[in-house]
Amino acid sequence: MTEPFNVLIVDTDRTSLALLDMMVRKLPNCATLLHSSPDMLLSAVDKINYDLAIFSSTLPQMDGVELARRMRAVPHLATKPVVIATSQPDTPEAEEVVASGVAEVLQKPIDPVEFRSRISRLAQSSSQETGAVIERHFTINSPEYTALEEEFFTMLARVSGLRDRETPLHNKRMARYCAVIARHLGLPADACRAMRLAAGLHDIGKAGLSDALLHKRGALSPEERLQMEEHTRIGHAMLYNAQSPLLRLAADVALNHHERWDGSGYPRHLKGEHIPLAGRIAAVADVFDALTSVRPYKSAWSRDNALRYMQENAGEKFDPACIAAFESGQEEIAAVMLAMSDAASGDDGADAA
Ligand SMILES: [Fe+2]
Ligand SMILES: [Fe+2]
Repeated sequence: MTEPFNVLIVDTDRTSLALLDMMVRKLPNCATLLHSSPDMLLSAVDKINYDLAIFSSTLPQMDGVELARRMRAVPHLATKPVVIATSQPDTPEAEEVVASGVAEVLQKPIDPVEFRSRISRLAQSSSQETGAVIERHFTINSPEYTALEEEFFTMLARVSGLRDRETPLHNKRMARYCAVIARHLGLPADACRAMRLAAGLHDIGKAGLSDALLHKRGALSPEERLQMEEHTRIGHAMLYNAQSPLLRLAADVALNHHERWDGSGYPRHLKGEHIPLAGRIAAVADVFDALTSVRPYKSAWSRDNALRYMQENAGEKFDPACIAAFESGQEEIAAVMLAMSDAASGDDGADAA
């Protein structure tokens, strides 16, 4: 017997809750978990698990979007799909939800046919694995499939690298640093691999920027800087609607790799654990590689100096837990730096994953 697909429903309106409960239970092999209080749910979040969540947009202690953000900040729930049920789907808030990729919007009153097709699609695109913390990966584990997936992400990272001014091996090293940090955070092997593949696409949104902007020599004007920052949203928009959980993880990385722990990053100025874990990991890896690489405006920092900078900024720019994981993975980080040095390698950086 296949494990049931568990749907968490949070709504204070008893009628609405009962209706959603009934609609979900009518779907094949679906079970429900009902809650009416976000605070109570968050207080027990360590013990809760689900495959999909449906939150009402209007809840007493916080709105559905805020609840979705908080749930996604919990490592084992970070990639669970969330649907916000709202009677006002055309508001700017609802548009922000869709743009952020935190959740999808479902219009109330709920149309049963649309509901069935949306939930079935989300259920289909999710695996039944519950162990992976970052990545709800495909259950297809054949060597051929894995090789195909690696190849696909490598090719996509190569396309991404063609539009980038970074050093050729930046994507490849940064992706590997992400996997090291994930491993030292205690994430399972599947999640570390997912992080490596997804991180290779962190700057894919630069494909949507103009040549003039990408190849400009010298400092960017404030307006140009804002245009450059759009690569995060562009990358996210390219990937977030994918069926593949791995591509959706890549969308998370693309959107959030420039967010900073203290809220000083972009594009949404998220703070602390409101930043998805994948974004927090990518931020550490991306900045460290930038510091230890030669850029037109600077020479490469030593690993020790760059590590000191990262440590000094733990709890300010970077998630302290990610910095601690980065510190404990220094032996592997040093090995990646040595194996993939820009100076020593003739590699064109194509194998970015
Ligand atoms: Fe970037
Ligand atoms: Fe980067």
